[in-house]
Order: sequence, then structure tokens, then C-alpha cells
Amino acid sequence: MPTLALDAVALEKLVSAAVAAPSIHNTQPWHFRLQPETSVLEVRAARERALPAADPQGRAMHISVGAAVLNLRVAARHLGWAPEVRLLPDPADPDLFATVRLDETSPVRAPGTEGLYDAIWRRHSVRTPFTGAPIPADVLDGLVTAARAEEATLRLPGAEETARLLELTAEAERRNTTDPAQRTESRNWIRSGDVPPYGIPVRALGPQDREGRLPVRDFAAIRPVDHQPAATFESEPRIAVLTTALDRPEDWLRTGLALEHVLLEATVHGVRASLLHQAMEWPELRWAAREPHLGPECVQFLIRLGYGPEGRATPRLAAADVLDPERNLGQGDSPQ
Ligand SMILES: Cc1cc2nc3c(=O)[nH]c(=O)nc-3n(C[C@H](O)[C@H](O)[C@H](O)COP(=O)(O)O)c2cc1C
Repeated sequence: MPTLALDAVALEKLVSAAVAAPSIHNTQPWHFRLQPETSVLEVRAARERALPAADPQGRAMHISVGAAVLNLRVAARHLGWAPEVRLLPDPADPDLFATVRLDETSPVRAPGTEGLYDAIWRRHSVRTPFTGAPIPADVLDGLVTAARAEEATLRLPGAEETARLLELTAEAERRNTTDPAQRTESRNWIRSGDVPPYGIPVRALGPQDREGRLPVRDFAAIRPVDHQPAATFESEPRIAVLTTALDRPEDWLRTGLALEHVLLEATVHGVRASLLHQAMEWPELRWAAREPHLGPECVQFLIRLGYGPEGRATPRLAAADVLDPERNLGQGDSPQ
């Protein structure tokens, strides 16, 4: 395999893949900095796009950045590197969420890398109704394996537990749409015109469930003009629950890696997904989402899976806008 250059072209490819990751309210709370002398790409938190009402602890911000790190790893492998990822490598620098060292090439591509890389560009949140066709067991097994590869667990609850989790989500949704801070914050991230390339465009929203069974997030809660007519959703939703053993910032980053690994694997098999995060934003509802008889677990996410249209891309900041310019010129930021 020829030597790889970590030049502007490669950097642009890597960062473009990273920013295609999902992020809460499409806040894209990341920026990147190359240390050319060590071939390390730093992944940093963009705290200016935090969500104080929905995410006071920064848990969802870590998950979002973790998803970007997964894409970065997949893209690096696709380009021929053997990337070394470290999460929260410097306790004195808590905004440095991850580093990806790119100084080794890989003699062989890891199996599945190409499919996952292609899926980065085709994965979108799909908030419209699914067909209701069941997902084959071997595909679901693949999703469970993808989560496990990132040290997380993907559970596939039965009908009764699914109904209970959706009821918790519905309660969270009621709170989100009536809590003034929450609903103002989420509404502020909905974009209806030609606006900055973050936030969710109205066209990417979906309808509400006519039967009220599936509590999809009502981002447009107090702006009736943005509502689509209600629609009938799948009668037996396939919900997956992503959990971790512990609940530290490192586990939140791992959740992001696992979430994106599961979503890309689903995309490879034509399975669409949307995310139900509402119950995670209220501590007692998140706590109630556990299944205590399965042992200690921290619930991080509900994912709705199924078949339907591919969904529409949402805008992203360009790679150049999220790359720290000074370091990328190779000047470092310590005095010469
Ligand atoms: C931590 C986190 C929480 C999210 N919560 C929700 C949610 O509750 N409902 C929803 O429809 N989308 C949710 N999303 C999806 C984002 O809105 C979506 O990723 C973003 O708008 C970019 O769109 P894309 O996924 O189509 O690229 C969440 C994403 C993340 C990473």
C-alpha cells in the first residue's frame, strides 16, 4: 500500500465524512484541529452550539461528537489508514473529546469498511411512517454486533416493553412541548429559510402519528404553520434501545460511536432509522426506561427502525468551516 499523505485533500475527505454524522438538533457541536507534526487529528467540542435546556450535562453533545468520530474512523480506514482513536485523552483539556492518530497505514482493509463508508453519505434521519415490514433476524443481529463492537449494548424489546418505552417517550414529549425553555430552544433550531448550515430544515421534519402511538419529536410545537398533516405510522414499531454499563462522558462518546455504527450498518441493509431521545432529557424518565432485571444498565437512546423512503439530507458546515485554520497551516499555537 503506498504511503498516505495527510494533506489538504485527505483532510477534507476525512472531515467531510465526520460532519455527515447525526447530531442533536443538527447542532454539529464539533471542530477539528490537525497536529501535523504528530499526524493527530483532534476532535473538539464546539460549546457555543450547546443546548442548555435539552442537554444541561452535555451528554447529547458527547454522543453527537462520538458519532462524528465513528465516521472519521470509517473514512480513515477507507482511505487506507489504520487509525488509532483515543477518547478524552487529556484530563486537563476536557474539550478535547477525541484524537485520531493517522500515522500508520493498513495492509488490508477491515471487512465491511467499504459498505460503511458508502453508507455515511446515504444515512439520514427518516421521520416519516415506515411500511411495517419486519426486519430479518440476521439484519437485527448485525446491528447488535455493531453496538457491541463499540462497547455498548443494543436491546430489542418485545411488544409490551416497547409500549412502555413509547409511553415514557410520550410523557417526555408532553413535557418538552410545554416546558418554555425546552420548546423555545428546540424551535430555535428549526430552519425554514436560507439560513446558516446547521439546525433542522422544515423539509426534514415528519408528520405526527394520527393514532398517537409513536411520539415522534414535535420540533414545530408552537409554530402550527410548520406542521404536516398527521399520518398513520406502522402499527408494530421496531424500537431498539442503546445502553452502556456506565454513564461517564467516555460512555456518552462510546454511545455516539455505537449509535452511528448501528445506523450505518442499518443503512447498508436498506433499514431506515429515526431517533427518539426525548425521554433521555428528563432524568426520572431516563431512569424509568431501564429494564432492571437485565442487570445494571444506563439507557442512552431509543432508535426506531424500519423500511421506507431514504430521507433527505440536512445541511452541514463545510469541512473548512470546522477545521482550526492556524494549526492546519502547521504553525502550532505555542510561541515560536
Ligand atoms: C443525541 C441526539 C439526539 C437526537 N434526538 C432526536 C430526536 O429526539 N428526534 C429526532 O427526530 N431526531 C433526533 N436526532 C437526530 C438529529 O435531529 C439529526 O441527526 C440531525 O438533524 C441531522 O440530520 P440527519 O440525521 O438526517 O443527518 C438526534 C440526534 C442525536 C445525535
